[in-house]
Amino acid sequence: MAAGGRPATMRAVQYSSYGGGAAALKFVEIPVPSLKKDAVLIKVEAASLNQADCNIQKGLMRPFIPKFPFIPVTDVSGEIIEVGSEVREFKVGDKVVSKLNFWKAGGLAEYVAASESVTVARPAGISAADAAGLPLAGLTALQGLRAIGTKFDGSGSGGADVLITAASSGVGTYAVQLAKLGSHRVTATCGERNLDLVRSLGADEVLDYNSPEGAALTSPSGKKYDYIVNITDRGRWSVFKQRLSGRGGRVVDVSSNLGNFVASVLTLFSWRKKLSVVIMTLGKKDMGFLVELMREGKLKTVVDSRHPFEKAVEAWERSMSGHATGKVIVEM
Ligand SMILES: NC(=O)c1ccc[n+]([C@@H]2O[C@H](COP(=O)([O-])OP(=O)(O)OC[C@H]3O[C@@H](n4cnc5c(N)ncnc54)[C@H](OP(=O)(O)O)[C@@H]3O)[C@@H](O)[C@H]2O)c1
Repeated sequence: MAAGGRPATMRAVQYSSYGGGAAALKFVEIPVPSLKKDAVLIKVEAASLNQADCNIQKGLMRPFIPKFPFIPVTDVSGEIIEVGSEVREFKVGDKVVSKLNFWKAGGLAEYVAASESVTVARPAGISAADAAGLPLAGLTALQGLRAIGTKFDGSGSGGADVLITAASSGVGTYAVQLAKLGSHRVTATCGERNLDLVRSLGADEVLDYNSPEGAALTSPSGKKYDYIVNITDRGRWSVFKQRLSGRGGRVVDVSSNLGNFVASVLTLFSWRKKLSVVIMTLGKKDMGFLVELMREGKLKTVVDSRHPFEKAVEAWERSMSGHATGKVIVEM
């Protein structure tokens, strides 16, 4: 174990009850977290916000999460300043990216303790902001696409017609790039202002979700989809099933609503069209894979906006708006 200049206290942003949005966030000066044997202490350089962070504040995971007062945000990148006695993989001074647990989070702070098991090295050449964008959104995109048999070297179910909704979202911007690495033909939905961006990420066809065709998810070329990766909570099974190919076809829903959840149960044993809900699971191996793709220049983070730590409240508002294009980043 080594000490790398741990201060006694740090600034953090926390809230103390459900609801209240950005106005409920308060800056506090609190002790720097203590370290378990299998954890590292990270001086946070950048953190990224996700809809999940806002949903936790709204109380969507009550009564289990969170325990108040709560420091939100799970996705961070920074430099290790202290390592626990059982940590083998890292040393003081290493640059890393971590996906913190939802129930503890703690990323909106100058320092955070992260288990070695949720931390991967950040190679030189990847910025803290780009790395911080990856964990939750990147893992969700990766696991959603893997659920339809995508192999990211182009084998597997490659060559399928895939629709990706909300392609301009944090999850969606990674999903389009990963689907192309899997050699799929991608149709993507987004707002009009993001059509060019989503095309530049590799989408073969783009649809403005506010147009009649976009609302109906009709492919500009008239084709049906082998798979739909749904990333918007407005997606409806009744629309999806009309657009799936007759060969079967499957919806992987990472943003499920009640109707789609019911559809997932009703189609559970269907041999033909079906909808499956996918919930991201934490995976160090998967995170390492995404970081490696980024190092190789095959995957990038689309940054919506960067906010200094002092303006974390603005970042929260931006994320909560549901209109970010890519990732909202807070820089410490
Ligand atoms: N299953 C899981 O484990 C898991 C994990 C992470 C996230 N999620 C879910 O994935 C979704 C995306 O999360 P995120 O953090 O990436 O979201 P986000 O970045 O906040 O998404 C905002 C973007 O989505 C676009 N959008 C909104 N509604 C749309 C629609 N109906 N059609 C097309 N585009 C639309 C917006 O475009 P405009 O500004 O043009 O409206 C905006 O660019 C959320 O529902 C989240 O809960 C699930």
